[in-house]
Amino acid sequence: MNNHPRLIHCFFTLLLCLGTYVHAADVPPRAAIATAHPLATRAGQEILEAGGNAFDAAVAVTAVLGVVEPYGSGLGGGGFWLLHRASDGMQVMVDGREKAPMAAHRDLYLDDKGEVIPGASINGPLAAGIPGVPAAMAHIAKKYGRLPLATSLAPAIRLAREGFAVDEQYRRYAKLRLQTLQRFPATAEIFLHKNAVPSLGYGLQQPDLANTLQSIAADGGESFYRGDLAKRLVVGVQAGGGIWSLEDLRQYRIVERAPIRTEYRGMKLISAAPPSSGGVALASMLQMLGQFDVDGMPEADRVHVMIEVMRRAYRDRAEYLGDSDFVEVPVVRLTSAAYAKQLVKGIRMDKATPSAALRPVGQPGGAGTDTTHFSILDAEGNRVAATMSINYLFGSGFVVPGTGFLLNDEMDDFSAKPGVPNAYGLVGAEANAIEPGKRPLSSMSPTFLDDDRGVAILGTPGGSRIITMVLLGALQYAAGADAETIVVRPRFHHQYLPDVVMYEDGAFSADTEQELSLRGHMLKKQLSPYGGGFGHYGNMQAVVWDRQKNRVDAASDKRGIGAASVFVQTKTAKEANGK
Ligand code: DON
Repeated sequence: MNNHPRLIHCFFTLLLCLGTYVHAADVPPRAAIATAHPLATRAGQEILEAGGNAFDAAVAVTAVLGVVEPYGSGLGGGGFWLLHRASDGMQVMVDGREKAPMAAHRDLYLDDKGEVIPGASINGPLAAGIPGVPAAMAHIAKKYGRLPLATSLAPAIRLAREGFAVDEQYRRYAKLRLQTLQRFPATAEIFLHKNAVPSLGYGLQQPDLANTLQSIAADGGESFYRGDLAKRLVVGVQAGGGIWSLEDLRQYRIVERAPIRTEYRGMKLISAAPPSSGGVALASMLQMLGQFDVDGMPEADRVHVMIEVMRRAYRDRAEYLGDSDFVEVPVVRLTSAAYAKQLVKGIRMDKATPSAALRPVGQPGGAGTDTTHFSILDAEGNRVAATMSINYLFGSGFVVPGTGFLLNDEMDDFSAKPGVPNAYGLVGAEANAIEPGKRPLSSMSPTFLDDDRGVAILGTPGGSRIITMVLLGALQYAAGADAETIVVRPRFHHQYLPDVVMYEDGAFSADTEQELSLRGHMLKKQLSPYGGGFGHYGNMQAVVWDRQKNRVDAASDKRGIGAASVFVQTKTAKEANGK
C-alpha cells in the first residue's frame, strides 16, 4: 500500500519518458547528407542551415554535382528524385528522365545494312535525349521547397564561376574520354587545359555554365526550354549532326509518378517506377527471396539463391520493362508474390540455371557507366533519394558552344537493335525500342527503406549493377546494418546476360566461391568498368535514421571521393519561414 504512490509516480515517469522517446523519434535528432562530392555535401548543408528543407537542399546538391562532377550528371542530363514529405507522408518520384527527340526512330543508330553504327548512340549530339534536370530542379523548388530557386542554385553558380580544384577522379575519367573531349573544341575548351587532362588541383572555372545556371535561377528554365537558350541549343545540336527541335524542348515535361512499393519481412521498400527498371526488379527479387529462408542458409546456398533471383529478375527486365507512357509494363504481376512463387520453382539448389535455359527474350537494350546519387534527411524528417545521369563518362562529350554543359548520351539506354547488346551487355526488348518522345529504360534506383527500426535512404550509380547493389544494401539494412556497413559491403551481380557472376574481392568467402563454381556458376572477378586491373564498382550514398536508437548516420562510398555529413540543423525550414 505504501508503495502505491511510488509505483504511480514510476508509472507516470515511464509514460513521460516513453512520450518523450516517441516524440523524439518522430523527427530525426540530426539532418544528414551523403553525396558523391564534398562540395555538393557542403552546399546541401549550407542550404539546410539557411532554413531550406531537404527538397531545397536536393536542388542545391543536384546543381552542384553537375558543376563538380561534370562527367557524371548535369544540366544536359536527367534523373529520378524520390521524395518523402514528413508533414503528410507523401511519397513521389519526380521523373526528370531524358526523352527521345521527335525525329528519333527505331533504327536511328543503324547503318544501311542494318548494323549498329559503333559509337553513334554514345558520342556527339545525336546520342542526346532532351534533358530533364533543369525542369526537375525548378519543379522541386517550386512545389516542395521553401527557398527561392535562385537561393538553392547560388552555391552551384558560385562554384561554376569561381572554379573548383580538379581531383584524381576527374583526371582519371577525363583521361578515359580524352579522345572524345578533344574531338569537340567547345568541350575541350572547358574540360581540358591546353587540350590535355588538367593537372591535380587545377582551378576549373565554368563561366558559361554559371550564366546558364543564372538564367535558370531567374526564369525557372523558361529560356532553356522555350527561349533564347532553347534556340541556341537547337542550332548547336543540329550543327553537330543531332536532331533536336525547338518543339522537343518546348514539349519536355517532368512527370510525377507513384513509386514502386514492396514489402520484405516487415521492411517496406519504396523505389523508382518505370521508366526505371529499378523498383520493379528490386520488388521482384525481394518477392522471390521471400520464398526462401535465406537468413538461415549457409553462405554458399544464400549467394546461390541470390544469383538465381537476380538472373530471373533481369530476364524479365529485358523483356517487359520500358517507358510505361508508351508500353504496358505488367508491374502488378511482376512484383506479385504469386509470380515470384512461380519463378522460384525453377531454382535448383545444387545447380546454376544457365540463362540460356530460361525462356529467351526478344531483343537487347542498354545502360551506361557514369552517374551520381545523393541521399538527404532533414530535421523535419523530409527525405530525398536522387540518382542523376548523363549516362557515359562526360555524357556524349558534346557541349553546345556558349552553354557550358555537356549533353547526355542517354539514347544508348534504348535498344539500338534487336539481338545486339550495348556496351554494357544488358539485354532489352521491344518494350525499350526507340520511339519519338519516349524515355529510355533506366536502372537508376533511388530507394527508401522503412521498418520498425527506422528509415534508410540510398542509391548509387553503376549502370545495370545499380539494382543489385541496392538489393544488397537493402538486405544489409534489413539485417540491422548502419550506413557505413551498407556502403562498404563488397558486391556481386548477375544480370541474366552475360551469364556470369561479377563480383568484388571479398563479396563471399573462398569456400563459397569454390562451391558456386561447382554448381556451375561462371565467376568473374570485377574488372573496373573504366578498364585496367581488378576494380570495384558503384558509389553508394546512404543515410540511416535509426528511430529506436534515436540516431542518424550517413556514409559515402569509399570507392568514390564523396562525403557524408550528419549535423544538428539549428534552424529548420519551419522555424525559418514560420511555415
Ligand atoms: O539510366 C541508367 O540506367 C544509366 N544511364 C545509368 C548509368 C550509370 O549509372 C553509370 N554509372 N556508373
